[in-house]
Amino acid sequence: MSAVNDKVKALTDHTYGTWNRQQAWSTPLLITDAQGVYFYDESGKSYIDFSSQLMCSNLGHKNPAVIEAIVRQAEKLPYIAPGFANEAAMAAVEALQSVMPEGLAKFFFSTSGTEANEAALKMVRQCQAPAYKVISRYHSYHGATPAGAAFTGDPRRWYSERARCTIEGVRFAPDHYCYRCPFDLTYPQCNVQCARYLDYMIKEEGNVAAMIVEPVVGTNGRIVPPPEYYPIVRKICDDNGVLLIADEVMSGWFRTGKAFAIEHWNVTPDILTTAKGASAAYTPVGLTVSTEKVARFFDESLFCHGHTYAYHALAASAIPAAVAEYKKLFDSGLPQRAAGHLQQKLYELADRHICIGDVRGIGHFWGLEIVKNRKTREPFDTKADKLSGKALMTAKIAAEAMKNGLYMAAWYDTLVIAPPLIITEEQIDEAIDIMDTALKIGDAQAVETDVPAFRSSEYTK
Ligand SMILES: Cc1ncc(COP(=O)(O)O)c(C=O)c1O
Repeated sequence: MSAVNDKVKALTDHTYGTWNRQQAWSTPLLITDAQGVYFYDESGKSYIDFSSQLMCSNLGHKNPAVIEAIVRQAEKLPYIAPGFANEAAMAAVEALQSVMPEGLAKFFFSTSGTEANEAALKMVRQCQAPAYKVISRYHSYHGATPAGAAFTGDPRRWYSERARCTIEGVRFAPDHYCYRCPFDLTYPQCNVQCARYLDYMIKEEGNVAAMIVEPVVGTNGRIVPPPEYYPIVRKICDDNGVLLIADEVMSGWFRTGKAFAIEHWNVTPDILTTAKGASAAYTPVGLTVSTEKVARFFDESLFCHGHTYAYHALAASAIPAAVAEYKKLFDSGLPQRAAGHLQQKLYELADRHICIGDVRGIGHFWGLEIVKNRKTREPFDTKADKLSGKALMTAKIAAEAMKNGLYMAAWYDTLVIAPPLIITEEQIDEAIDIMDTALKIGDAQAVETDVPAFRSSEYTK
């Protein structure tokens, strides 16, 4: 074993690997540098970052403006208790106001997406009492702490439930998953039943305080709803006095082409939570943002929430710089061009590979659903397989890509295509070439049929 491997082992022996059996947390790749859309291991080998790490490095790596802002703040005032005002938080609020959907007015700063959702839960349960239930959806991830885990539809919740680390009062609504419609209907004849069912659900449940949604489903599929979905959901929430929480932890920060994904449907949530891209992952940031109406409730009532690192100055210092960089980038037109190119290239990839069942997404946020059989839509692996230790087909494809210099996150059924927004068309082509080779692993075990890949994204324009 090399000296480097020995050092990595010393790390893994003494740390908990995330979401892993600890036996499997043995020799992670040591990454020592990163620049733009590439990162480098200790041997100097480069990898194209085709998932922006955990869909968070939206500005790519080593952005000089963001780094400079953080360094300046580190030198001036890295931390001061949240009971004081600090200039970094003041500048961050001003920058955030320039990109937030209209109507979202009041902020709480924490340091992660899961904390942002915990704060949202407190807000809705306090101001909607005695109503306390929260509706979420099965295809979702909302965080690792009790509220986030309870809101989560994917198998990470199952493990949190067994550890009794969730909250009570969460119910799950049907997904807007056109490729595998839970009602076995087809859009548009379905009349968007997945959204309309909510009215029945809320009335039958009673005590519903809020609904939480990822406006474009992230880890659990990059699922974009049909155009009518959010306007219907918003109306049903309003008619029933239910608050709508948009979890934009992953879908926010221009990942879908707009600052926040919910803006594609001209719908304003009552609360928006975000993290990741807020600092482009340069510092740990979580944000819970409410309307004036929700905020007014707390004028008289205690906002019984806070953290030592709330409004952390060093964390906040990255926000204005990141916001300015996003604006500059979109003014250049590069992400808009790259997004169109990416879509085209993914469609072409699906024409060449029989293991691609569905191509879906928007902007720089795409999923390829990998299937054994396009005709029956039989998957290689299931949700339950994800944390079982089974070698998943998506993981095999992603591992092959990694060997050839392409990093791509994989879920149990989909590959995550979510490159930094700075990626060029040439870099996309470089990544697609590597995917072309890696996908042959799936093709070799898929059944040849005469059915082309589905394009859910054509439904959702
Ligand atoms: C939609 C969504 N919400 C919440 C979270 C939790 O964020 P964090 O990992 O920063 O706690 C994530 C993380 O991936 C996410 O994708």
